[in-house]
Amino acid sequence: MKIFLDTANVDSIKKYNDMGLVDGITTNPTLLSREKGNPAEIMRQIVKIVKGPVSLEVVGTTAEEMLEEAHRLKKYGPNVVVKIPMIADGLKAVKKLKSEGIETNVTLVFSANQAILAAKAGAAYVSPFIGRLDDAGQDGMALIREIVQIFKNYEFGTNVLVASVRHPLHVIDAGKIGAHVVTLPPEILGKMLTHPLTDKGLSAFLSDWEKVKKENPNLAI
Ligand code: G3P
Repeated sequence: MKIFLDTANVDSIKKYNDMGLVDGITTNPTLLSREKGNPAEIMRQIVKIVKGPVSLEVVGTTAEEMLEEAHRLKKYGPNVVVKIPMIADGLKAVKKLKSEGIETNVTLVFSANQAILAAKAGAAYVSPFIGRLDDAGQDGMALIREIVQIFKNYEFGTNVLVASVRHPLHVIDAGKIGAHVVTLPPEILGKMLTHPLTDKGLSAFLSDWEKVKKENPNLAI
């Protein structure tokens, strides 16, 4: 399972990238709007920090606008994946970009039908938003199960990228289903990293070791 960070926050990206946990990044206009500074500069920095794929999203809504933006974004670095909304013009842009060797991530996917069409158009990734489906009273993870099964049945080369992840259990469920990628807000990756029993256990080890040191003042390990 690949782990991407779903953020445009450079400090968080550096923090988890230094631990070897970041296989890639996904951003979107909302995530960029939360950061201070020039968004173009932020995107350039992210593309340099992370070796893996970095999804940068277009904001145009016609195929022509999306293609123009895609070509500009692709100049940020070879690892840029162009994020395209799941609309008819978006799929037209996906097909053209695929023919040019440019990878795309089709975003705002909310049904298995949309995922099939994005894959047929040539997307490298499809991004079903499971948390937003859960929020709307639908079962987001059931959608992942459907898409993974359909893609397996027909050996589609498109990666299922689980987006809009809300908690660590989503990650475990996505892994059990066999989704290729989960993209996580940094807070969720932080939650996956910690466990109260780890902290309690470490604290006991350290205090017991203090006792050992008191009994062996010259001890060095
Ligand atoms: O990358 C987009 C997706 O993960 C958004 O998540 O939390 O805004 O529903 P959210």
